[in-house]
Amino acid sequence: MDQLICSRCEAAYGLDEPRWRCDCGSVLDIEFKPSFDVVSTPFRKPTMWRYREAIPIRDDEHIVTFDEGFTSLLEVDFKGRSVLVKQDHVSPTGSFKDRGASVLVSKARELGISEVVEDSSGNAGSALAAYCARAGIGCTIFVPEAARPVKLAQIAAYGGRIKKIAGDRHAVDAAALEAAKAVYYASHCWNPFFLQGTKTFAYEICEQLGWQAPDTVILPAGNGTLLLGSYLGFKDLMRVGITSRIPRLVGVQAARCAPLYRMFTDNLTEIPETGPVDTVADGMAVTQPVRAGQILDAVKSTGGAFLAVEEDEILASQKLMHRKGLYIESTSAVVTAGVEKYLERTAGLETLVTVLTGHGLKTGTPERDTTP
Ligand SMILES: Cc1ncc(COP(=O)(O)O)c(C=O)c1O
Ligand SMILES: [Zn+2]
Repeated sequence: MDQLICSRCEAAYGLDEPRWRCDCGSVLDIEFKPSFDVVSTPFRKPTMWRYREAIPIRDDEHIVTFDEGFTSLLEVDFKGRSVLVKQDHVSPTGSFKDRGASVLVSKARELGISEVVEDSSGNAGSALAAYCARAGIGCTIFVPEAARPVKLAQIAAYGGRIKKIAGDRHAVDAAALEAAKAVYYASHCWNPFFLQGTKTFAYEICEQLGWQAPDTVILPAGNGTLLLGSYLGFKDLMRVGITSRIPRLVGVQAARCAPLYRMFTDNLTEIPETGPVDTVADGMAVTQPVRAGQILDAVKSTGGAFLAVEEDEILASQKLMHRKGLYIESTSAVVTAGVEKYLERTAGLETLVTVLTGHGLKTGTPERDTTP
């Protein structure tokens, strides 16, 4: 049966309840049996909605889309090794978050919701604001005071209302949670419909590889929305017998904000405290990922790992990508720096996939990039 299900107490709720967490306070997941039509899919429009039967939105008329997804899987040379890179930085609003926003806002429309709130350092907020604009839904985005002006400008341009909150991301979360008592919480971290969009990332990779799973996928791990979505997507394809395995998932964090990396390497069961965070990876400055347990379980169950990259490695990798003609923002360079680190530690021949998560135009004034 299609339903929302609690990952802690197993309470179940209808898919049409406008709720984003369990009464016990835990995150919810979606129980839904996806199906695929591998014969007709290659002839469909090149968007993530080509996997329509695998996305739990009831009526086509509720779909809110800019024809996002089906991004190219570009072969890029990383120090003599070939890596396949999904170009999600050229998504409609400039980040992979469009995948999640498309399904989440479609669901909001299906529920007849006219107003949503969300908290974000910028990219999820931009994506949500754009899709809400297309759907005619009002949206308010809570952001940290230190959010990049270029990202705030994008949210405001789409008509999103911005509420700046003093303090860290925690304070922003708390303010959004308070607002969510009265208005639908379209949170990319809490709301499980977001992952129903990011999971298409895995479907696309497999289709682009001739319906085969790659060996390893290197992904960002802030709130883990792409990582968890990918895990769901790869699991779906294996369950229905299209692929025969789930790739190793490797999550990358900025060393200055690496709670998941520390939980993995030190075998911790609780999220460790991270001091005041100061990193160029503004989109990944997440100290308390709400789905931390699920992210760890996903990575461990695939035989994967976490990597942490230093600030100088992030900036060097961003510059390297720029010089290859790939204009990415600094948060996205956490992942490419992780790819470089991964390749230094491994020698084998394997199909390795990664992603460019956010467009370089989102970094704002690039003083650091202009040095020759
Ligand atoms: C450009 C970019 N890359 C990576 C991430 C990290 O994604 P997640 O928090 O879903 O792990 C974000 C999150 O905002 C982002 O904006
Ligand atoms: Zn529960």
